[in-house]
Amino acid sequence: MNRDLKSLVSQMTLEEKAGMCSGLDFWHLKSVERLGIPDVMVSDGPHGLRKQDEEADHLGINESIKAVCFPAGVLSACSFDRDLMRTLGDALGKEAQATNVSVVLGPAVNIKRSPLCGRNFEYYSEDPYLAGEAAAAFIEGVQAHHVGTSIKHFAANSQELNRMSASSNVDERTLREIYLPAFETAVKKAQPYTVMCSYNRLNGTYASEHPWLLTDVLRKEWGFEGYVMSDWGAVDNRVDGLKAGLDLEMPSSGGATDAEIVQAVQNGTLDEAVLDQAVERILRIIFLYADNREKQEFTMEADHALARRIAAESMVLLKNENILPLKEEENIVFIGEFAAKPRFQGGGSSHINCFRIDSALDEVKGCNNISYAKGFLADSDVYDESLAAEAIQAAKSADKAVIFAGLPDSFESEGYDRSHMRLPDCQNRLIEEILKVQKDVIVVLHNGSPVELPWANKVKGILEAYLGGQAAGGAVTDILFGKINPSGKLAETFPYRLEDNPSYLTFGDPKEVDYTEGIYVGYRYYDAKNMPVAFPFGYGLSYTTFAYSNLRLDQDIMTEKDTVIASVDVTNTGDRFGKEIIQLYIADKTGAARRPLRELKGYEKVALQPGEMKTVTMAIDYRSLAWYSTQLHDWYAASGEYEVLIGASSRDIRLRAALRLNNSQLLPLHVTKNTTMGELLADPRTASFIKEWQQKLLSVFAPPEEVEKAEEPSASEEAVSDEMNNAMMYSMPLRNLVTFGTCTPAQLEELIRALNETL
Ligand code: BGC
Repeated sequence: MNRDLKSLVSQMTLEEKAGMCSGLDFWHLKSVERLGIPDVMVSDGPHGLRKQDEEADHLGINESIKAVCFPAGVLSACSFDRDLMRTLGDALGKEAQATNVSVVLGPAVNIKRSPLCGRNFEYYSEDPYLAGEAAAAFIEGVQAHHVGTSIKHFAANSQELNRMSASSNVDERTLREIYLPAFETAVKKAQPYTVMCSYNRLNGTYASEHPWLLTDVLRKEWGFEGYVMSDWGAVDNRVDGLKAGLDLEMPSSGGATDAEIVQAVQNGTLDEAVLDQAVERILRIIFLYADNREKQEFTMEADHALARRIAAESMVLLKNENILPLKEEENIVFIGEFAAKPRFQGGGSSHINCFRIDSALDEVKGCNNISYAKGFLADSDVYDESLAAEAIQAAKSADKAVIFAGLPDSFESEGYDRSHMRLPDCQNRLIEEILKVQKDVIVVLHNGSPVELPWANKVKGILEAYLGGQAAGGAVTDILFGKINPSGKLAETFPYRLEDNPSYLTFGDPKEVDYTEGIYVGYRYYDAKNMPVAFPFGYGLSYTTFAYSNLRLDQDIMTEKDTVIASVDVTNTGDRFGKEIIQLYIADKTGAARRPLRELKGYEKVALQPGEMKTVTMAIDYRSLAWYSTQLHDWYAASGEYEVLIGASSRDIRLRAALRLNNSQLLPLHVTKNTTMGELLADPRTASFIKEWQQKLLSVFAPPEEVEKAEEPSASEEAVSDEMNNAMMYSMPLRNLVTFGTCTPAQLEELIRALNETL
């Protein structure tokens, strides 16, 4: 239905308009009955519906309706599968229609700066390209049902400590290259109905009142058309927020901030047009939903089956020394309480009230060859001697031991960060004890973020199940017994130690969090340092093997306007069906700027029967090659050589191809007396011009006739080599032409004028 929203807004009183800009209660927006504006509800959260029923309390903590808990973002991102993310979104969109929820509060795309962030389990990746692609697909799925999404938390909300006040201090290039692109991609590709601003300050200013963030970048640059809502309680100054682009405050302010808005309009400090615009944006989204209601049923059983499929397609097999898949007839012991009580979701606003939970143990009920020993309690870090003894005994008499390890709920949650990266000591100790009596050990991990794995070299198999949703148990056994061939790959690096992480020294400051590692987040850092890691970004094993061959580019020279298609043949060389994730990285060889060694710019997941080959194609455009120039305040890629890398992980590059960019744009250059000779020689616009002066300058240091004459180098020549002369000349500012007698001050001025004229 085409509604005339402007006319609707014009019929609203000032009070009604101000009222539209904050919640009615914890989950609802206000209605205006006389104008036919319905009240609508929003609900968490990214991986399932947390819809509180009608008896919602003021704090939103009452039990929510029974629903389906899908795998958390930490796991679904490992699918590297856009279709799967869309399918997840599609299911949530239908569930939302079935339960009268107008906006699902997700996806959550903050970058995993540190493994310690308590909320990493909800977030997708350390890589912005992957996070953006996953989010866009999820949003498309939900919004296909005219249910909105709220991509969150905008922006740079990568720690929980003091999240409502700490400032994320991030330089412009890092923001643009690391912390914003997931939002940018999602907005440009999928137009989320809403964006949720984060609690934190960004470079000193609250995200909820940051005009550059909420208006200049989000709307003017990226073209966001929906409304911005605050995170729950993120508003500092309501009127400043409205002016900056924060349309809706959540939850209700009890009318206090509505009154502030009314007063600001009345005393002339807030232009009523700003308010009208916010109201119009909110109404547009309300009606997008209200005018497109679908008759849906909450198909819990079907969604449970989908949750299991998504989990199984995303779990990552980290190690397999000929031990998996398990054979039906083997005597196996499952150890660890997580086998009976899987940890499958994180704590906080995304916590789902599940209608059913499948454990791995449930799945093998009735199999006489599979026994169970609790070994340790899932929610404690106490080494229980008698539970441990029982588990060790059981491990001794079994053919293989599968230990279900993981983080207790209390170790990671929204609201606080972890203080270390270890599993509970009791679990590490038990694993070591079991290894003394059983050599065939497999560890299944239930955690929301990387953990240190001190026994990794000794066990034969490791399955990273992460937080797999309510059907996690089934997904784990599907993989363990080979019903499903694992095909997930890590969306984050597993460093050996917390201290290796680039944010180690600055993460967790209570007030000013300086992102001093800049763009070197995750694999961008570990790869640049050539640092050994436990498991690299993009890594994951399969029960089959894949060969990559025949990388070709449809053009190997491109301009800034072109899109190049990279094609690569992938063959399943093993003997069972499997899926492979092919990753495309770009390496900048131009030397024009400091860049990570390689950055993910494409990926595809492909399903292959044994022996089957498929050609995978991925597009490379100018942006794939570009970095963010703070001089241009825009993306920029220099002319020159790039490499297209095709990898099975960030550390397993299988194929390479050279790609040349001819970019007609050059970075602006303004010559002053402090511009260096090197800068001028490197720039094609000034290089030939300045060469003559380079020669003159060089001849001051090493007169050509002397070089020719001398047979033995003089003492002074030994002290000052040609290399040193060249290097010195390269870094010399133009003013040194005068210092070293190559020209007069007047000639220098003329030279600078002439150089600037050529630019
Ligand atoms: C969280 C959001 C969530 C909101 C509503 C906040 O505390 O940060 O992610 O959507 O609560 O539950």
